[in-house]
Amino acid sequence: MAAPVKKRKTSLPKKTVGLAFPVKFPDISMFIVERKIQRARLDHVKNLARRKGFQVSDSLNESVTHIISELETRDQVLEVLRGRLSNDVEASLFLKDAEIVCMGWFTSCMEEGAPVQVTHGHRLKPEVKAVPTVSSSSASKTCYQDAKYCCQRITPLNHHNKKLTDALEVLEKQADFLGGDNNSSRALAFRKASTALKALPKTVRNMREVENLCDLKGGKHCKRVVQEILEEGFSSEVEDIMNDEWFQTVKIFTGVFGCGAATGRKWFDMKLRSLEDVRRCQDINLTTEQKHGLKFYDDINTPVTRHEADVIQQIVAAEAQQILPGTTVTVTGGFSRGKTTGHDVDLLISHPEEGKEEGLLAQILYALHKKDFLEYTDVQNSSYNEAAIRQVKRNQVMDHFERCFSIFRLPKRLIQDRSELNTDQSTVKLGENTLKMSPKDQANTQRPTLAEEGSGDVEDTTNKTQNQDNSDETGNADDRNVRTQSQDAGLLDSKLTPCVDSEATSLNDGVRDWVARRVDLIITPHSQYAYALMGWIGSRMFNRSIRDYANREMNMTLTSHGLFDKTKNALIPAKTQREIFEHLKLQYREPKERNC
Ligand code: UTP
Ligand code: MN
Repeated sequence: MAAPVKKRKTSLPKKTVGLAFPVKFPDISMFIVERKIQRARLDHVKNLARRKGFQVSDSLNESVTHIISELETRDQVLEVLRGRLSNDVEASLFLKDAEIVCMGWFTSCMEEGAPVQVTHGHRLKPEVKAVPTVSSSSASKTCYQDAKYCCQRITPLNHHNKKLTDALEVLEKQADFLGGDNNSSRALAFRKASTALKALPKTVRNMREVENLCDLKGGKHCKRVVQEILEEGFSSEVEDIMNDEWFQTVKIFTGVFGCGAATGRKWFDMKLRSLEDVRRCQDINLTTEQKHGLKFYDDINTPVTRHEADVIQQIVAAEAQQILPGTTVTVTGGFSRGKTTGHDVDLLISHPEEGKEEGLLAQILYALHKKDFLEYTDVQNSSYNEAAIRQVKRNQVMDHFERCFSIFRLPKRLIQDRSELNTDQSTVKLGENTLKMSPKDQANTQRPTLAEEGSGDVEDTTNKTQNQDNSDETGNADDRNVRTQSQDAGLLDSKLTPCVDSEATSLNDGVRDWVARRVDLIITPHSQYAYALMGWIGSRMFNRSIRDYANREMNMTLTSHGLFDKTKNALIPAKTQREIFEHLKLQYREPKERNC
């Protein structure tokens, strides 16, 4: 893309450039207009250009070939420059020759590492005319993308500003790692800014397009970073963070299941620098979670694929069906927002008959455990009561459902050959053996497609698939256990179960015939299902936003358990996610549009 540049009549005074860097492009001499550029940034920009072999003149003289400015029009630039020269005639004489270009041209040169051809788009235009910003555009869609709450915007998974949002997410992560109230607020500000950029319908090219964007306009730091990337192609601050030993080490440590930022920082302060250091350290008492996290670090930090999530869902659903027909097991979390990989599998378990879900988790875990599908479990009992939903703490993420955080042993042979998972999803082929599900069971084994979730059908199917034959099963736990045990053999025979001796196999990855995957099992009563589904589909930021909206705009409290109208002092039931949006007077957003 390097383009020939026009030759100057006069030879260039090379003294105007930093002597430390060799000049690669003697035909080019840049002059950067200071107006609208902070001093520190100006120095940084000049240095960058010089490092790349460009000449940058500190004074305005005849040698200048390119005048680069943040100002919006050619007229504004001329006015600034004329004010500084001895007479207008002299100014206009050389300005006839020099290109007057925007920062975009400079950025392209830096990215190319060579001068690029000045095009019409780079040249600042003579007439003064307002440049529409994204937020002031009259296009309703564009305006909508700048709505106050991100739950009102369409936030797709694949958006147009990844370079910018990746950088802001590094800053967010760093603030999270640093911890404390102030840094949590900073992390949220970075998150909000990146969320706003994700909703934009086009790639941002110029600061003017975003400087008034909701969730960005107040953030000086965010703006500085965005501007740096727009102009130079990267942010030196973000690069520095990514290369920082503290950041890199805490990032590795927080990848350990059970290790949060505070523990990660503590380990770093203890002079630990690697997982091996942590494993060997005698001075720390690792929790059971952390021991497992260290043992299966590589597995757990390998993204879970959608296919693996489906296989795990089918294994759990098959067990649940045997224990209590009619039980629904739904993949939620990032996968339902269209992500193709995730850090875990979030399974929402329910039964269309309210109350039947009680005691179900223990039985499912028992059945899975018997077949050696579980490496680690941490069960948390339900802590739900009506007061919990009426008085929700601000920013509270955890809900009150009965749940199990687990490490699942996923047999490698079930995921090696994708073709073994039938496309109609009616069977999971386990080697020579096939786990069959009846059509009725299939209906209950929910794997929502994006469209289904959007239509609210997911929730509706549960009502249609209620199993009438087992109404007496729920009351008697012992009876259920007997049934479960007798049915285990028929469901997955012994050939299909993974290796029994977990310690022996875990210690030697070479003989382990399964991979460790993080799976969360969440039990929800049917009456709360739509709310639980919305909460667990996420994203975290979407939840935060819609809950904030409910509180501020509707005087309601929204959680994964329900919606409480504070004005009417009443809980509002909902069967589908659509109904929840309607109660909140919000336009419905498909799960795939909730990737804030
Ligand atoms: P995750 O942390 O699993 O996020 O929580 P994710 O979007 O699926 O990301 P990956 O793909 O695994 O990396 C899933 C959703 O569950 C909600 C979170 O807010 C998130 O939106 N959640 C989590 C709750 O609703 N309640 C909780 O107690 C915990
Ligand atoms: Mn998840």
